[in-house]
Amino acid sequence: MSIIKLINIGEITTYNSYTKTIDNIKDSDILIIDGIIDKIDKDIDADCEIYDCQNRLITPGFVDPHTHPVFLNGREEEFGLRMQGATYQEIAEKGGGINSSVNGVRNASTEELVALVTKRMDRFLKLGTTTIEAKSGYGLNVESELKSLEVLDLVNQNHIIDIIPTFLGAHSIPSEYKDNPDGYIDILCNEMIPAVAEQGIAQYCDIFCENGYFNVKQSRRILETAKENGLIPRLHADEFEDSGAAELAAEIGAVSADHLMAVSDEGIAKMAETNVIATLLPGTTFFLGSTNYAPVKKLMEAGVEIALATDYNPGSCHIQSMPFIISLACIYMGMSVEDALISATFNSAKTLNLEKEIGSIEVGKKADIIIWDLEKLIEIPYNVTDVPIIKVMKDGKYVS
Ligand code: NIG
Ligand code: FE
Repeated sequence: MSIIKLINIGEITTYNSYTKTIDNIKDSDILIIDGIIDKIDKDIDADCEIYDCQNRLITPGFVDPHTHPVFLNGREEEFGLRMQGATYQEIAEKGGGINSSVNGVRNASTEELVALVTKRMDRFLKLGTTTIEAKSGYGLNVESELKSLEVLDLVNQNHIIDIIPTFLGAHSIPSEYKDNPDGYIDILCNEMIPAVAEQGIAQYCDIFCENGYFNVKQSRRILETAKENGLIPRLHADEFEDSGAAELAAEIGAVSADHLMAVSDEGIAKMAETNVIATLLPGTTFFLGSTNYAPVKKLMEAGVEIALATDYNPGSCHIQSMPFIISLACIYMGMSVEDALISATFNSAKTLNLEKEIGSIEVGKKADIIIWDLEKLIEIPYNVTDVPIIKVMKDGKYVS
């Protein structure tokens, strides 16, 4: 049995799932037994290993609910092209974009991808992310999509970070189906989704529902098939244009609709009615040099719950830091730091159906905890590029 006590905590800042607000708990210790928070109280008496938090701030570990880490090479040349004025869509139309990452994944060995993804997970963990959703989506055929999911599973087994795998075969129409997109939808529904279900790794099925990628009709067919095969739907929705994707998310019962930079008022109302969480990705807006951030205030006023994620990928957002995403959410979307913390921990856990286990520092939950070299929550976004973390604890183990 492992017993650890965190003492001398300056302040525990966490979402409280009973009061549904942020708690700022002072003068309390935390007792952790076998990786689970057993007690949060003043002067806990226990004969065990002790960690002195030096009177500093502690928060829950971040839950990053939208990432694309299974790729071979970066696409920094696209970054350069954007500096010369090209847009993400123009670059994609000229042979860049998602499809330009496909050959890399198809030709890479499982071992090569495992090594790369492991290194990326080390970095996520150092930046305070203790659970991460990770998508396939650069294989775009049965073999390479299954390989991408297997890579995620192998890394998950050997890395202390928790990886929640999502199948994203509907990320783009691969170039061999350029003139026959419905042929690819047939392959997705008749072969890929059943094969992914049979493999048993992916829990969710995502789709890039956007004009020029998968339209609402195609997306509906794919997500209905995914549901029949036991995969839970989530969507890339209305990223560049209002494509009616938020409405589809509501209709299909998706757990989350992500991006939403161009979501319509109708889409917002439907999401609110059906409790679809909005996962916002301000890093992508920032990285693409846009100023068109998702309408977080409108979403919140309509009663939609907000999660935050990095969208880490080689093209539109090469950012791994959830603290930086919190800075962007506060500076550019006008979120309060308290709301941003809830969105980056509890609500993001909710999009993964894990809010009973992770996402807050409460008795009975996993001891996924960040010990900061800070005193107050506001100092997280205030530090912008600096990430003053003393220790990250995952499942009650110190990992950095
Ligand atoms: O979330 N929008 C679709 N997928 C990614 C981009 C992936 C890429 O460019 O490789 C995104 O932004
Ligand atoms: Fe994405």
